[in-house]
Amino acid sequence: MARARLAVLASGRGSNLEALIAARREGRLHADIVLVAGNRPDAAALALARAAGIATLARESRGTGERAAWDRAFMAEVAAAGPDWIVLAGFMRRLDGVAIAPWVGRMLNIHPSLLPKHPGLDTHRRVLEAGDAEHGASVHFVTAELDAGPVLAQVRMPVHVDDTPASLARRLLPLEHRLLVACVALAAAGRVALRADQRVVVLDGTALDAPLRLDERQGLQRTAP
Ligand code: GAR
Repeated sequence: MARARLAVLASGRGSNLEALIAARREGRLHADIVLVAGNRPDAAALALARAAGIATLARESRGTGERAAWDRAFMAEVAAAGPDWIVLAGFMRRLDGVAIAPWVGRMLNIHPSLLPKHPGLDTHRRVLEAGDAEHGASVHFVTAELDAGPVLAQVRMPVHVDDTPASLARRLLPLEHRLLVACVALAAAGRVALRADQRVVVLDGTALDAPLRLDERQGLQRTAP
């Protein structure tokens, strides 16, 4: 099988991108990152990609007028790189439904909460405000609705009594990195798909009743709903 071609979209620091680059370098991810694209030209993620010798696309999205037109032009440029999969790794812009429509089923996003809990921003603070006993991250298929596409896999961790939003973010980040690499590896191996109704994730030809769970020792595991 040909190596999968990945485009990674990122807006910020780029630690999830860095995890993908490292996994690829160390032979844990059999895929090529053909493009890193971002909507903040000064983002660290883009600098990281350039330093790794990866092609980049930097397009400022602030102050550019009509949102949908920007999204469609941006996605057309991403598509021109010929990716098999698009991975949103800290891409902090909600893309227009028409712009992403051709990619539904081939676009994954990492989100720092146990979806469907806490879609949107500020998840660590909201976990504490809600008094949740557990926190975590999800990798889901991107659909037109924000953070609402079917979840492929999650990683969970306990919330401690003395946690702050910063301590939760710090503890979750390395787990996010492992989760994203594991999920992208499955996608690159052609093992996951979205059913045509866009509601159910299929792994190795079988529908998932519940998201996979990342286990520290055993990797991604099927779980009961
Ligand atoms: C990560 O925590 C990621 O889950 C989150 O942004 C951070 C990016 O960090 N994404 C979202 O909130 C998407 N809604 P990074 O730039 O170091 O990878």
